Amino acid sequence: GASSSTHHGDFLKCLSDHSNTSIPIYTPQNSKYSFILQSTLASLRFNTSTTPKPFLILTPLTESHVQTAVVCSKKHGIQIKVRSGGHDFEGLSYISDVPFIIVDLFNLKKIDVDVNSKVAWVQSGATTGEVYYTIAKKSKTLGFPAAICTTVGVGGHFSGGGYGFMLRKYGTAADNVIDARIVDAHGKILNRKSMGKGLFWAIRGGGGGSFGIVISWKIKLVTVPPVVTVFSVSKTLAEGATSLVHKWQQAAHKLPHELFIMLGLGIVDATPKGEKTIIATFDSMYLGDAKKLQTIMQARFPELGLESKDYTEMSWIQSVLLFDGIPTNSSIDVLVSRPQPKSLAKVKSDYVKQVIPPIELENIWKRILKDEQTGMMFMPYGGKMSEIAETETPFPHRNGTLFKIIYLVYWTEEQVGISKKYLNQIKRMYEFMTPYVTKSPREAYANYRDLDLGQTSKNGTASYAQAKVWGSKYFKGNFDKLVYVKSKVDPDNFFRNEQSIPRDSSLT
Ligand code: FDA
Repeated sequence: GASSSTHHGDFLKCLSDHSNTSIPIYTPQNSKYSFILQSTLASLRFNTSTTPKPFLILTPLTESHVQTAVVCSKKHGIQIKVRSGGHDFEGLSYISDVPFIIVDLFNLKKIDVDVNSKVAWVQSGATTGEVYYTIAKKSKTLGFPAAICTTVGVGGHFSGGGYGFMLRKYGTAADNVIDARIVDAHGKILNRKSMGKGLFWAIRGGGGGSFGIVISWKIKLVTVPPVVTVFSVSKTLAEGATSLVHKWQQAAHKLPHELFIMLGLGIVDATPKGEKTIIATFDSMYLGDAKKLQTIMQARFPELGLESKDYTEMSWIQSVLLFDGIPTNSSIDVLVSRPQPKSLAKVKSDYVKQVIPPIELENIWKRILKDEQTGMMFMPYGGKMSEIAETETPFPHRNGTLFKIIYLVYWTEEQVGISKKYLNQIKRMYEFMTPYVTKSPREAYANYRDLDLGQTSKNGTASYAQAKVWGSKYFKGNFDKLVYVKSKVDPDNFFRNEQSIPRDSSLT
């Protein structure tokens, strides 16, 4: 209506009054609007004609543009969503049920690697693949422990933890952040020193969207050997998958920190007639050579029956390509030039602290065989993850955790009309798994954002009690400290979303 467009006019005037150089802006009337909106939108579930769209997309070119965006949005009471890589599983970085704008950081993607000091400054709009690429261009023996998927954005990813194949050796991405630059709710730029201990703690795992806009991160690079070794082996039920999965649960979290064996569970044809069976796939990366890995596997997990030919040596950066499904003989340039894959999917997570016995695994197989499109992946913990205290960062899933479960269901665009069917499948699977996973709270991974765990009825205005329902799952006992920090740094609850950290009004 007329009043809202006047309102938007005042907002636009504020933007130009507050910056010397103009901030690129896209309104729905702009011919590039849809292209920009869809460029990093990873989930096709939130790309329909009925999905709420922003009335404006701002694409800052400088830190001061981000400050201006915050100052003017706050002044005019405009809801903002911040987007870095757009991989949020619930689309929280680009949808809202109230009128909103997107502050999209894709232009802020500078990466400065200092090989001598083994550190880098990375802007939030970069992807993890661009980070790996830039490090690998400068050194064959440095790397960084972050996402397996190389199109994930740094901004959201580091905010929620972030893990990949070096998790057991070096912890999460957030564990390796040593400084940051953030625009706070007053539009001020703060660094580690000026933001204070509480806020610097909160942004390393407390989830994106609650505390401010992190513009850049200083990360500690980690040592990788010139040669790493990988293997991938699959076993069906007839080939002993059940006892191997049982053994994996006991072994994987105790193996040397350099060794990460991920386990995928899905279905495959058992007979030419199309009868189905379960297939367990063990994908592994070892920070060392094949000879050493072979010795370890023979001593610790001989049941897997690996032979010399199963081990492949390559550089760390080639393993990055491999695990993201890119042929390892490709030029690593693909990490900076790849279009973002988009899909229809739903993901959920769980943590396991007690080995699931074979007889229970058999029941789980039956469930998977009934809901054919929903698969599971088990990610081993232990190693470095057990050495970091639960309170050191907001990410609380540490000592005592054997592994994380990822549930995932994908469907095709032809199946979009029956999306509900797949959303129900994964919910059923999650219910079914209740006896085998953590309880009170049933833990979940903040970067696998899942609105089934609860959300505010009206965007971003949850009470402490409402938010504690999902907040304790993502953060356990750290939730209260996150609420405390939030109350101090953003008392007006300017940065908010469907599952953001609430204020406690007695603290503001
Ligand atoms: P996006 O831009 O959508 O932001 C996510 C959240 O953070 C939103 O709430 C957003 O507002 C907020 N935010 C974004 N930028 C911010 C900033 N600069 N400051 C403050 N808040 C900000 N995870 C993992 O640990 N390991 C993995 O291997 C993978 N793999 C993977 C594959 C695929 C295909 C997907 C879709 C997702 C993953 N993930 C993952 C999950 C991923 O870590 C998670 O979705 C991250 O939050 C994505 O960060 P983006 O910046 O891309 O998301």
